[in-house]
Amino acid sequence: MIKRTKINDLLRFDTAVDEVVVKGWVRTKRDSKGFSFIEVNDGSCLKNIQIIAESSLNNYDDITRLTTGSAVAISGKLAESPGGGQKWEIQAKDIQIISIASEDYPLQKKRHSDEFLRTIAHLRPRTNKYSAAFRIRSELSYAIHKFFRDRGFRYVHTPIITGSDCEGAGELFRVTTLDMENAPRIDGQVDFTEDFFGKEAGLTVSGQLSGEMFALALGDIYTFGPTFRAENSNTSRHAAEFWMVEPEMAFCDLEGDMDVAEEMLKYLANFVQENCAEDIELFAKFVDKELLNTINNVISSDFIRLPYEEAVEILENSKEKFEYEVSYGKDLQSEHERYLTEKHFKKPVIVFNYPREIKPFYMRQNDDDRTVAAMDILVPRIGEIIGGSQREERLDKLEARMQEMGLPSEDYWWYLDSRRFGSVPHSGFGLGFERMLMFLTGISNIRDVIPFPRTPNNIEF
Ligand code: 4AD
Ligand code: MG
Repeated sequence: MIKRTKINDLLRFDTAVDEVVVKGWVRTKRDSKGFSFIEVNDGSCLKNIQIIAESSLNNYDDITRLTTGSAVAISGKLAESPGGGQKWEIQAKDIQIISIASEDYPLQKKRHSDEFLRTIAHLRPRTNKYSAAFRIRSELSYAIHKFFRDRGFRYVHTPIITGSDCEGAGELFRVTTLDMENAPRIDGQVDFTEDFFGKEAGLTVSGQLSGEMFALALGDIYTFGPTFRAENSNTSRHAAEFWMVEPEMAFCDLEGDMDVAEEMLKYLANFVQENCAEDIELFAKFVDKELLNTINNVISSDFIRLPYEEAVEILENSKEKFEYEVSYGKDLQSEHERYLTEKHFKKPVIVFNYPREIKPFYMRQNDDDRTVAAMDILVPRIGEIIGGSQREERLDKLEARMQEMGLPSEDYWWYLDSRRFGSVPHSGFGLGFERMLMFLTGISNIRDVIPFPRTPNNIEF
């Protein structure tokens, strides 16, 4: 195989090179007297490299017929570009045409709408905006592993197929091999003992419960994987398939939990700014003019830590017209979350100690008997980006709460066992990976940070 240089590396060279090989796709071509200029992009960075193809090349006729989107392999000399605008250009010695793109290539030179590009998700990553977004997605994944590994956390693969609805919201996608038309039934009810696993199964809504088992053995762990929720809310912040980062720390209380979460958000924001500067710049220029200020505000400010009760008071006393009413005992809506972080405090806010009625069974009960040790982190433009809690480590309290909520303890016998054999205070949280990407790029619809988004009525590609 001929070796290939990535444009991203090439543009950083500080001396000319006699022989480089670039493989990529034609962005534009301009024919002049005796030669053609071809702009080629290989997806390694935003910038194209300019190729000079002289008419003396033996396949020059074919080269003049190259269309936008065509695939080419160029070998030639990397030389200083006299034209200005770019430092280097390639004076081609050989251009191999790998394939010619059909004339109806849908990506034109003009800017396309996000809505249109979603309909051609298979070509979307060839555009500047989306190639940048997905390079950032890749870097952010790496940063997550690096953050935790540097701090001694172990990476645990929790199952994707599961029998338990961790959040208790009934949003599980069912996994079955039963014949839908002819399901075995007992008294009219589907008999899942005949199903593949011998009981009802679904796609995971969170790796947390399994993660807890490993924190109570390895100390500090994290999971990072796909998560599925069949919530039929067609919002710009919810996807049916998304990725979640879920650390779980043994011997850690709610305050420690908030400390790790705050440190992680700052680290990730900083990492992406340092390692994806050029791609981030594109978003700061064309998508959200305030982007750099918003990101720097997260990096440099101490997050506000505010009990839920005080958050409700602030919202009740605000002059803001909300669509949904606020009162103690109700969940905060995204308009409330955004008011707190964007208008009232103008920085990230951690709301903690929520009423227990609106939170899942596993959260630790506070001494006041009406709140649990939960925390949500709210950031400008997104609202909730992280949800976490200290877990109920006391067996009697956990069992009582499960009974109150009508959860069958038989199904959770293994979870309860962890409170029997060396239970310790422990805490964790979940970061919505796509929401973090939205935050870092200014992209306002979750569909546009996911390579092939899954949302209600949408599973093309
Ligand atoms: O607040 P959530 O539901 O918390 C949990 O699942 C806990 N088990 C996490 C834990 O403590 N280990 O979800 C965590 C985060 C949310 O704050 C949000 O950022 C994201 O996951 N999220 C979604 N992102 C995209 N689409 C959806 N449908 C999402 N639902 C939650
Ligand atoms: Mg939540």
